[in-house]
Amino acid sequence: MESSISRIAIDGPASSGKSTVGHRLAIALDYLYFDTGVLYRAVTWGALQHGVDTNDTEAALDVAKVLSIEVVPSDYDDGRKNTVLVDGTDATWELHTPNVDANVSGIARNAAIRRLLIDTQRDIGAAGRVVMIGRDIGTVVLPDADIKFYVTASAEERANRRYAEHQRNGVESDYAEILASIKARDHADMNREVAPLVAADDAYIIDTSDIGIAEVVAEMQRLIAKQHDNSHT
Ligand code: DC
Repeated sequence: MESSISRIAIDGPASSGKSTVGHRLAIALDYLYFDTGVLYRAVTWGALQHGVDTNDTEAALDVAKVLSIEVVPSDYDDGRKNTVLVDGTDATWELHTPNVDANVSGIARNAAIRRLLIDTQRDIGAAGRVVMIGRDIGTVVLPDADIKFYVTASAEERANRRYAEHQRNGVESDYAEILASIKARDHADMNREVAPLVAADDAYIIDTSDIGIAEVVAEMQRLIAKQHDNSHT
């Protein structure tokens, strides 16, 4: 029987593991995996390419309005989950450099840019059979998602993971700087006026500090099955 749990929202702070578990979950269910963070990162990268200050609300919006962002399945075997084309250029790895990390909060708190990006996200959500990852999916983008997860972990554990990821990708970085950047981004994400990072009231909260990816995915699948059964009794 087709599962009644079609739109799955996963939110959480930077490097909490939400993308990794969300990707595994999407593969297990044969659903589309969509990480909304790449949209904010693509606008950030585009603004930086155009020499625009990401905190300049109007100028950044102008860039966002004309930028073409395509998220397409990947043909590469280099660890990417999707390929992100920004104005036709493959910017997949560029989107995860420390420079983009440091500037993305300015774009994420830009209310007009958020409105622009929300339609794309809702269209993808409306098609169903999707695991959508972000900060405000369960609260703002898909408030009526069929199931919501809020994935979190300590800042130190998350910095460890981001550092290991940079090493794997050959990106030069420093642990202390990453930790400071994660804490700064948490603060910016949780305290911004529009769509702040917060668990939806009806989200399942999963702390991944001490449990592995496979266990988290298994727990999510268990909760999805339970929710499906409940909706049929
Ligand atoms: O998940 P990430 O690290 O790739 O996200 C990058 C930034 O984008 C993050 O600082 C917060 C922002 N973001 C957001 O505000 N809303 C989303 N739905 C996804 C990401």
